[in-house]
Amino acid sequence: MIFQEAFFILDFGCIFRIQILFMKAIVCNQFGLPSSLTYQEVENPSPKKGELLITVKACSVNFPDTLIIQGKYQFKPPFPFSPGSDVAGIIEAVGEEVKGFQIGDEVVGFIPFGGFAEKAIIPAKDCFPKPSGMSMVNASAFLLAYGTSFHALKDRAKLQEGETVLVLGASGGVGITAVELSKLMGAKVIAAASTDEKLALCKEFGADETINYTTENLKERVKELTNGKGVDVIYDPVGGDFSEQAFRSIAWKGRHLVIGFANGQIPKIPLNLPLLKGADIVGVFWGVFAQKEPQKSLQNIHQLLTWFAKGDIKPHIDATYSLDDAPKALEDMMDRKVKGKIVIDLEK
Ligand SMILES: NC(=O)c1ccc[n+]([C@@H]2O[C@H](COP(=O)([O-])OP(=O)(O)OC[C@H]3O[C@@H](n4cnc5c(N)ncnc54)[C@H](OP(=O)(O)O)[C@@H]3O)[C@@H](O)[C@H]2O)c1
Repeated sequence: MIFQEAFFILDFGCIFRIQILFMKAIVCNQFGLPSSLTYQEVENPSPKKGELLITVKACSVNFPDTLIIQGKYQFKPPFPFSPGSDVAGIIEAVGEEVKGFQIGDEVVGFIPFGGFAEKAIIPAKDCFPKPSGMSMVNASAFLLAYGTSFHALKDRAKLQEGETVLVLGASGGVGITAVELSKLMGAKVIAAASTDEKLALCKEFGADETINYTTENLKERVKELTNGKGVDVIYDPVGGDFSEQAFRSIAWKGRHLVIGFANGQIPKIPLNLPLLKGADIVGVFWGVFAQKEPQKSLQNIHQLLTWFAKGDIKPHIDATYSLDDAPKALEDMMDRKVKGKIVIDLEK
């Protein structure tokens, strides 16, 4: 953190001096690719009513970060802004009317943007105490990925023990948690991804079967692996042509979970297909769920933290990057080089 002194000469001749605090941040000054981001000094944010200021220790990278800097996400923050939403750190200041948090507490939280910076503001309602046995890096890689997959499988698909789940993009940030959680919830898991190396990780995380969708036909392989019955649940963070191929392999009364469109194309599924299978196409939006149904979201997070404490689930951290290297982290994600999670580690 850097202090700078500013001098103001008031009308009546007296000199007024204030101290301004500055921090380092990755800043988006215009929409563009990661190479257009700058690493620069910006003024420290200060917490308003109901908010906390944290010293960021780690912020994981999520696919939406690659979209938000290009102006391709659901909302467009005003310039200048820092990307980064999944943060872990230490409370440095507490805004008015905040209850239950103190300066010095270690916390984890979710924000729409602002995490690739030395300090960040988090609404206290979106902040949780960090479990003592969890590192800052793991904590920052936890909420969005596990929160999304658990909400999708439990609340939206109503996954039952013994059902079969097909996970597309299965080695990705949310995909690998869907593999891990489906297995933990008693399902048979088919993991689909683009390389054998990515599929090997899925096996480690509990996949029973794997499909390399670069070299194998997705629909035919699913039929083979399910003896013609099809899959009960499809977890789809990829989109594009894979969505319809997968949907054509769904079982009677199956549920296709629409998670995201990492491949850049929003698919259009002919509506005769859900009719023929008595199947559902189910939207999933964890961030809005957490805002609209906070009690249910808290129960889910509590369950996930209990599983973490017991050693049943653990984020896979593929790599960590220093703050100034955040554009490289975003490029690696866009180039499909990442398995599991990558994290900006501010202690690096
Ligand atoms: N609905 C929600 O609440 C929610 C929450 C979090 C994330 N999401 C969405 O879920 C998707 C995945 O997010 P994530 O953070 O898990 O991303 P990620 O770690 O980059 O994983 C995405 C996976 O998609 C596959 N993929 C296929 N085509 C791709 C392409 N052209 N570029 C990049 N990846 C491609 C890759 O696997 P292969 O190489 O094996 O194909 C990759 O592992 C994103 O669309 C994100 O916006 C939605």
